[in-house]
Amino acid sequence: MQLSFALLLLGSSALAASLPRRACDATCKRAGADAYIKALTTHSKADADAVPLTDDVKRFETFNGIGPFQTSFSATDMRLGLQFGASALAYRAYEQAYTAFDNGTLLVNYKIDTGLLNGAIPIPGAKTRVYEYFQYADTLISRIDVYTQTPA
Ligand SMILES: *[C@@H]1O[C@H](CO)[C@@H](O)[C@H](O)[C@H]1NC(C)=O
Repeated sequence: MQLSFALLLLGSSALAASLPRRACDATCKRAGADAYIKALTTHSKADADAVPLTDDVKRFETFNGIGPFQTSFSATDMRLGLQFGASALAYRAYEQAYTAFDNGTLLVNYKIDTGLLNGAIPIPGAKTRVYEYFQYADTLISRIDVYTQTPA
């Protein structure tokens, strides 16, 4: 009796382990995208490290219809880029609108202001409209496709 109970426990934990890991729901996806957008504007290492990324996360960017260019090849790459890359020009993100598609992709449509020294020197007219498609593997961002339009 005791043995069969133990076997039952063993069986159910094996079953639990074989189930897919928790899917990322809308709240989880939005939190991941928000963490990315925050890091894009603060450029802090802590914020860049907090973005939930797969190790081999990729990013493709299209600027005013020109592209796509692959601008990131790994999590390390992307975290460094968020701190020191071209996106270091972005210092404010606003008007975020979120669209969750049935295929699991989350689109975030927003605007950014760009400038030098974290906005201390704004670049006149440099408002950019951003359409950013986030794909996930479980709870981690696995791919980002970015389409920007400047001026917004
Ligand atoms: C998911 O659907 C959206 C809306 O149709 C589309 O733009 C996007 O390319 C799709 N993503 C994938 C990975 O198929």
